[in-house]
Amino acid sequence: METLRIDGNTRLLVMTGAGVSAESGIPTFRGSDGLWENHPVEQVASPEGFHADPALVWRFYSQRRTGARPCVPNPGHLAIAEWEQMLGDRFLLATQNVDGLHRLAGNQRLVELHGNLFTTRCTRCERPPFEDRLAYPEGTVPLCGQCGGRLRPNIVWFGEPLDSRDLLQVGDFLRRDDTRLVFMAVGTSGAVWPAAGFVDTARKSGGETWLVNAEPAENTGRFHHFIQGRSGEVLPKLVTFE
Ligand SMILES: NC(=O)c1ccc[n+]([C@@H]2O[C@H](COP(=O)([O-])OP(=O)(O)OC[C@H]3O[C@@H](n4cnc5c(N)ncnc54)[C@H](O)[C@@H]3O)[C@@H](O)[C@H]2O)c1
Ligand SMILES: [Zn+2]
Repeated sequence: METLRIDGNTRLLVMTGAGVSAESGIPTFRGSDGLWENHPVEQVASPEGFHADPALVWRFYSQRRTGARPCVPNPGHLAIAEWEQMLGDRFLLATQNVDGLHRLAGNQRLVELHGNLFTTRCTRCERPPFEDRLAYPEGTVPLCGQCGGRLRPNIVWFGEPLDSRDLLQVGDFLRRDDTRLVFMAVGTSGAVWPAAGFVDTARKSGGETWLVNAEPAENTGRFHHFIQGRSGEVLPKLVTFE
């Protein structure tokens, strides 16, 4: 297997998708049939879906919470956490995952592009998102204790924009010109924008690009290096520091 050499003049941006958590027991969306109890996931993970049937959406996310709660980081997460230890501010992790496993593994230089499964926010008032690990009883929609408005999962749904501060942080890191750039995407199908476009921004900044995925992704051809395999097996052996 090829190895990625990182020296004191290299910065590393890692971008992860659902595949990284598959070996922790959290299923990917497209890896299965893209359906949840016969509903396309877009229906239970979109503003339109929430508007049409908020109790159904809460049932979906309550199940996700129950499923993800006992899961722990796998060797892939742990390798990425170690890279942050080695690199400090020459490291940034942008994840599309909402399961919180990267933080559990120890990553702190972390941008959660799609939100977090274990936080909730109000659809009406300005109260900041708060930690919430509850699975709500079927048929219920939790209400805000401060304004009575409907609560919703703190997730960026299909059709919703990403937080511009998050995108700025990733963009700034990609465009920094103080060090050699390496961009690595792991466990992501390359179908979800704008994260799928980071590889192009990285190349424009002169970056070297790596993809680690169980199967070829939609944008495999955009990467200089593609390693096909499971992230929990590949990542612990991938990087050598010099
Ligand atoms: N764990 C989570 O938080 C979670 C899980 C499912 C979906 N989601 C959400 O749904 C969206 C789905 O998009 P996505 O592109 O991240 O996921 P995806 O489901 O579209 O693609 C996952 C990719 O990972 C690959 N993969 C599967 N197992 C792997 C492994 N062990 N090692 C390496 N690669 C593996 C698959 O081949 C696939 O290409 C995400 O943006 C995310 O917000 C999150
Ligand atoms: Zn409120």
